[in-house]
Amino acid sequence: MSKKVLILKGDYIGPEIVDEAVKVLKKVDQKFSLGIELEEGLLGGAAYDEVGEPCPEKTLEQGRQSDAILMGSVGGPKWDEVDRDLRPEKGLLKLRSGLELFGNLRPAILYPQLADASSLKPEIVAGLNILIVRELTGGIYFGEPRGIRVLENGEREGYNTYKYCESEIRRIGKVAFEAAMVRDKRVCSVDKANVLEATILWREIMEEVAKDYPEVTLSHMYVDNAAMQLVRAPKQFDVVVTGNMFGDILSDAAAMLTGSIGMLPSASLDKDGKGLYEPCHGSAPDIAGQGVANPLATILSVAMMLRYSLDAPEAADAIEVAVSKVLDMGLRTPDIYTEGTRKVGTSEMGDAVVQCFM
Ligand code: IPM
Ligand code: MG
Repeated sequence: MSKKVLILKGDYIGPEIVDEAVKVLKKVDQKFSLGIELEEGLLGGAAYDEVGEPCPEKTLEQGRQSDAILMGSVGGPKWDEVDRDLRPEKGLLKLRSGLELFGNLRPAILYPQLADASSLKPEIVAGLNILIVRELTGGIYFGEPRGIRVLENGEREGYNTYKYCESEIRRIGKVAFEAAMVRDKRVCSVDKANVLEATILWREIMEEVAKDYPEVTLSHMYVDNAAMQLVRAPKQFDVVVTGNMFGDILSDAAAMLTGSIGMLPSASLDKDGKGLYEPCHGSAPDIAGQGVANPLATILSVAMMLRYSLDAPEAADAIEVAVSKVLDMGLRTPDIYTEGTRKVGTSEMGDAVVQCFM
């Protein structure tokens, strides 16, 4: 049976890294006879330039019709002056919420070959394997009311609403506990329950969800402490579950532990396991067009796609092994380069991963 994958290259380095990931996807498709059909769509600034909005209805429809979506990155200075509701990032948020992709998995795994590329001491990060489970379609990113208004005294005020309802908390909690069941059976729920009511409820519901998973140990941590613990003793974490904004911030911090944000893939799943797969990093306008971006986060996102949405775990394993092999061979894009290794560009890295399947 054929499987449809929608490709959304996006902006700046997006097309460069997605091209490499597609090379790898085509290779595994051939090797494992997966019957994957690719289709392209528009998202972000690329969509705005073409059709005047960052997530056209057509893209949403293409997304609904596919088994999985692979995305590069969106946004950048080119669209700084665009109306705020038409910014590229809004397109990504519309895609996430339009397809109800509420469960965002961001694994921060340190490849031992990259221990020296981390900004932390090798012994602090060696063996690191954290899964950040970020709620992706609620919280302050989507809460209404929101806006920028003029107050009576003529001063402007920006405002957003941080809210979560029980069902939203419960469903992301389940994702985290299910993930923990096949890992080290520990969930740390990150909140700001000493200040924010929305997260007082978050904590309560996490406790309730935990009752269905007696084998899993649940702990709670305030987000400021979690940020500190992530750089102090990151290996204390197994699964971290948190809301949309905290998850955004903590996952960038966790990424750096692994050497570079260029290594961190992600999956955003709906209740049936359909998913959007994208690197955690942004569109890196400063290096776009130079052929130096690290394609590995996107390539590793393809592995997650094969595992979670396309039911092809052997193909997923094969990609992860191939990535490990290219690192063993000493190939490094500039973001993970250290002395004694060999600096390569985006397409050389993609080609090397493909070669490793031979
Ligand atoms: C991420 C990104 C996005 C987010 C941006 C591009 C809207 O930072 O996926 O982490 O904030 O969710
Ligand atoms: Mg982010």
